[in-house]
Amino acid sequence: MNILITGGAGFIGSAVVRHIIQNTQDSVLNVDKLTYAGNLESLESIHHHERYTFSQTDICDRSALDQLFANFQPDAVMHLAAESHVDRSISGPADFIETNIIGTYQLLEATRQYWNTLAEPRKQAFRFHHISTDEVYGDLEGTEDLFLETTPYAPSSPYSASKASSDHLVRAWHRTYGLPVVVTNCSNNYGPYHFPEKLIPLIIQNALAGKALPVYGNGHQIRDWLFVEDHARALYKVVTEAAVGETYNIGGHNEQKNIDVVKAICELLEELAPNKPAGIEHYQNLITYVTDRPGHDLRYAIDASKIKKDLGWIPQETFDTGLRKTVEWYLNNQEWVEHIQSGEYKNWIQQQYQTEQA
Ligand code: NAD
Ligand code: DAU
Repeated sequence: MNILITGGAGFIGSAVVRHIIQNTQDSVLNVDKLTYAGNLESLESIHHHERYTFSQTDICDRSALDQLFANFQPDAVMHLAAESHVDRSISGPADFIETNIIGTYQLLEATRQYWNTLAEPRKQAFRFHHISTDEVYGDLEGTEDLFLETTPYAPSSPYSASKASSDHLVRAWHRTYGLPVVVTNCSNNYGPYHFPEKLIPLIIQNALAGKALPVYGNGHQIRDWLFVEDHARALYKVVTEAAVGETYNIGGHNEQKNIDVVKAICELLEELAPNKPAGIEHYQNLITYVTDRPGHDLRYAIDASKIKKDLGWIPQETFDTGLRKTVEWYLNNQEWVEHIQSGEYKNWIQQQYQTEQA
């Protein structure tokens, strides 16, 4: 297959691209604007591969999208490009509306125009896979409930409202125009190449630097953590095997309180990085309770039984094994983080492509 992936330079997108190039015979066109969150260094292991191509393109740019579709002739689109950080959506929602809503609309229209040119059987086999989040379902606080595929939408933040909006657009394009879509809603991912603004990599990096470990509110909020490579395997299964119009929730059956996640990282670091910065006796002493996130959702939890039953997917990592792998990865890949902190990762594309053209 030819798979057009949007947002392939991001955290989950890069895991999907690496998974497909390393484990299948499919070709990938990675369409990514390279915002602050896009990092081609996360794709260094595969970027010279003959089945991989990159295009620095904004999904809001319709004519550029049309050109890419015409040249690449995809059999499937996996749409991951988004503004993804809840805190940024609170301080500045505009980019979230632009990319997550308008960008998804432009991508749907480009896909629809291209899909209408396809002849059978390619037209019927085509898939538009929209990658979304469990945050569209809102807050499960005070219940034992899990999110089902049928749970009503009740987003809380500008981020989750923009993702909910994009989910509605995708389903409308299926119902109205017959576009063959599938939608997945996943819980919190963690693992290698995670941008160090999100909880787990931020705590690892701050602890190693001897900085405060900021815990919002009382730290009793619950997230359902999934190792990113398990998510990548699930997404490939869905795009290749799911029936048109289906929705799948994806989750790790790993509900954890934030404060317990932070403490677990500290314990792993005590074992794996015992040489602490000067003056730090225990990493846990760095835990600092800070002002809560406005509108903070207290609990998310996914029922992932439908994808298990229909497609046979289950996660391979437990939270213990996945968190250990993650902490080890950050300890062994400090250069990747340092390039983000210094801004050098933004130069990588120029350096790389200048060398190739020379
Ligand atoms: P990320 O922020 O790490 O990466 C997003 C990527 O999209 C970046 O490479 C960025 O450059 C690109 N991008 C942003 N705006 C763009 C635009 N206008 N045009 C083209 N590219 C653009 O995000 P992530 O954590 O990898 O999340 C990927 C997707 O999965 C998102 O749609 C997100 O909503 C969803 N999701 C994330 C999680 C999670 O825990 N991270 C969980 C469930 C669902
Ligand atoms: O549930 C899926 C979602 O998970 C994805 O759709 C989002 O793209 C992704 O960013 C993530 O959203 P969260 O808001 O849950 O992730 P974050 O890592 O920002 O925060 C996780 C929890 O930790 C949340 O309850 C807020 C809290 N937190 C976060 C940070 C950055 C802290 O207590 N301190 C912090 O410094």
